[in-house]
Amino acid sequence: MKANWFHLLFKFILVSILLFSLSCSNTETQKYTIGFSQTGINDEWRKSMNQAMKIQAAFYPEIELKILEGQDDITDQIKDIEALIAENVDILIVSPVQAAPITPIVEKAFKKGIPVLIVDRKINGENYTAYLGADNYQIGTNAANYLASLTTEPKNIIEIKGLLGSSPASERSSGFNNIINDIPNLSVVKTIQGNWESYSIKDSLSKILDSIKNVDYIFAHNDRMALGAWEVLKEKRLEKTIKIIGVDGLNGPNGGVELVQDEVLMATLLYPTGGDEAIKLAIEILNGKAVAKKNILGTTVIDSRNASILKNQFDKITKQQNDIESQQDRIKLQEKTYSTQSNILKVLLGLLITSLLLAAYSIYSAKSIRKKKRELELQNKKITIQRNQIKKIAEEVKISNEARVNFFTGLSHEFKTPITLILSSTEALTENKVIRDNKLLNEVGLIYNNSKRLLRLINQLLDFRKVEDRKFVLRASKTNLYQFSNVIFKDFKREAQKRNINFTINTNNEDLEVYVDRNLMDKVYFNLLSNAFKFTPNNGTISIDIKDVFDSNFVKIHFKDSGIGIPKKEMDKVFRAFFQGSNNNNASSGIGLHLSKEFVEMHKGTIEVISKHGAEFIITLYKDNVHLDPDEIINEIDIVDSSLLSSHLDYEDDIISEPLVLNDEDNYSILIIEDNLDLVNFLKGKLSLEYSVQVSDGTDAIEKALELIPDIIICDISLPEKSGFDICEILKKDLRTSHIPTIILTALNNKESYIKGLEVGADLYLTKPFSFAILAQSIKTLIYNREKLRYYFVNNVHNIDASSNFGSMEQEFVSTLNKIINKNVDNSKFSVENLASDLNISRIQLYRKMKAIMGVNISDYIQNTRLEKAKEMLLNTPLTISEIAYATGFSSPNYFSTSFKNKFNKSPKAFRE
Ligand code: FRU
Repeated sequence: MKANWFHLLFKFILVSILLFSLSCSNTETQKYTIGFSQTGINDEWRKSMNQAMKIQAAFYPEIELKILEGQDDITDQIKDIEALIAENVDILIVSPVQAAPITPIVEKAFKKGIPVLIVDRKINGENYTAYLGADNYQIGTNAANYLASLTTEPKNIIEIKGLLGSSPASERSSGFNNIINDIPNLSVVKTIQGNWESYSIKDSLSKILDSIKNVDYIFAHNDRMALGAWEVLKEKRLEKTIKIIGVDGLNGPNGGVELVQDEVLMATLLYPTGGDEAIKLAIEILNGKAVAKKNILGTTVIDSRNASILKNQFDKITKQQNDIESQQDRIKLQEKTYSTQSNILKVLLGLLITSLLLAAYSIYSAKSIRKKKRELELQNKKITIQRNQIKKIAEEVKISNEARVNFFTGLSHEFKTPITLILSSTEALTENKVIRDNKLLNEVGLIYNNSKRLLRLINQLLDFRKVEDRKFVLRASKTNLYQFSNVIFKDFKREAQKRNINFTINTNNEDLEVYVDRNLMDKVYFNLLSNAFKFTPNNGTISIDIKDVFDSNFVKIHFKDSGIGIPKKEMDKVFRAFFQGSNNNNASSGIGLHLSKEFVEMHKGTIEVISKHGAEFIITLYKDNVHLDPDEIINEIDIVDSSLLSSHLDYEDDIISEPLVLNDEDNYSILIIEDNLDLVNFLKGKLSLEYSVQVSDGTDAIEKALELIPDIIICDISLPEKSGFDICEILKKDLRTSHIPTIILTALNNKESYIKGLEVGADLYLTKPFSFAILAQSIKTLIYNREKLRYYFVNNVHNIDASSNFGSMEQEFVSTLNKIINKNVDNSKFSVENLASDLNISRIQLYRKMKAIMGVNISDYIQNTRLEKAKEMLLNTPLTISEIAYATGFSSPNYFSTSFKNKFNKSPKAFRE
């Protein structure tokens, strides 16, 4: 509603501004340009002509008058006219210096369509719109008639002519002479050619006067030359004797009228400039009115009789002109004032409208701000309510979370006691003679080690909770760092020996003592070392290097291994809680390193990791104790958690005797790919009774499988280098191992892993915890199935050829094998080695593969093929026995006969009969 009101107001104001600006704008009238090419401005006549034009033009606001003043020079005037044509003037006024040279350019303008008004002097021909000026011929006749009227006595006249080639000069002369010639007492004794200016005639006149003594009159074509003549006469004291007539009759100083009044001239012929008439005529032409081609201005004789009257008249005209001029100036000034005031008015009105607009807008804004404020207040209230609700929920969640964590912590504590009891009971059992005698130490050892592992995990979880709650208090005591490290080093030494790991400890200062919380630091050491052992393959290296940084307050402890290392992009994440490395297939809690970092930082130390050919963790500690609070320092040796310090490692070596391994060649062989030593030992112990068992920790699984070609493979998934999926896939795609039944034995108990297991070709997928009985039965079933398959192969051996499309790798293998043997059946030198190399496998692999899928010896198989072929030849060909013997690759007929008899219980000869 309010917005509509505002928009209406806005529209109203806009329309008002538009109407106002329309009313203010000047009514545009069409503008005309009048271009005037003047001959020159060196004399008063021309100046007066220009002035009259300007005054007249000022009456017409639509007219712009452009005067190019000229230099009394033809070339200049042609240029001026060209310029005016180029400017596209609406009408061209020309006062030509001379007729002939100016005619072409005027004609050009006229032909281009520009109206041309010729003034004062003429051009040749008729190519112009109109002419305006006095009748110069008449001026000549008037002058002659005036002289004739003065006397009947014989009188001599000198004629001083205007510029040669200009129309007034020729017309004035012919008018004058035509009359004089008819008057007997008057004669023109001399003619002087002037150029309208006084200097042009003075010398000639002076000379003439020196030679001719009885001159009475001089007729000069204009007043300027007439004055020049008087000056010559004056010099010769002839000014009273010889009378002069001029032309122009200008008013003003040195003008013809004044010269007459001053008796310098006897008379002058009025030659009006016609400036004002020229403008009037031009406007008529521009307005399309029909005008006369010749517009002649009036002329009259001015002498002592009318000079004063005319002067008065002229003065009045001049005064009127001046009045008009000053009025025009005043009008211009008023126009200017009006325009300024009107502009100010417009600006003021604009400002008024803007302020109205702004006022309206501020009213509108104020209202909408009030509305927005109300809305915001409402929203604020809602948010506050929601926030309080969230806060309440968060508190509830916190309480319930707290309860869960407390429950979980309590439970973890509860676990500790039974596990500790199991541990101590198991420990007692290992001492028990009955157990030892019945060779049950393996199982007891397993229970012991795994209970210990559980206890460690639970302790870690409890530590994590304690760190989270900031409940740990550092209890640092002065400790010989090398000795402390050495104790832990010794605990791990046995595992290193067992796995042939080059495990060392070094220091540059065996006496260095630092303040450490032994309990916590022990956990840090244990974590770093058990990680190192977990990720370092057998035969690798692990080192502890304690470096006293001399001249500093620091000691650095390096834990370096040659394991799988840490990917670069994960380096900064390893210390985060629950972090799992992408290259770590081992299941782990992900809090060990996090706790280590927390514990080191409680010592105000740092821990960093670098990874190059394995991983290296560097702990930096202060050497003195000034960085610790007094209550963090203890002087007596703290009680160290015995479950950890007493022995870090499982004591399987001590208690678990090597299981009884059957090395009977005839036993089926099993390859166990598993990195959990306990599980390996367990399986090995159980399975060795029936099978020949080999083990790989995963790092050399492929190599071992290829080397052994076992009858069964049991494979874990989470392994240090390749995953069990990868291993299984590689083996199943390799002709040499593709036939081996593979069991995946894993803790990954989800559908995706199960499907993946089958995809990579596993024959069975068992999940941990598993029943050994089921595993044992599965192994048996797989071996039985393999036997069935072997039976099938043996009995279909001749049906399996290249064209058979069985699809399985084994079928393909047998078919290729048969093809190669048949091709070489007549070659007595063809051996098992040749066959193996044709199949691209080793002799031993071929031997094992044949044994596995067909249960026969490969040499026997080749021999059999030869004998079968011979049997067929004996039946279907007329060849002799010795020919058949050689054709089936026997080195001698005798050997053939013996072999044939051995297989078919009949000699070849007897068989044929
Ligand atoms: C002025 C003038 C006049 C003369 C006229 C002829 O320039 O010389 O004195 O009458 O031109 O065109």
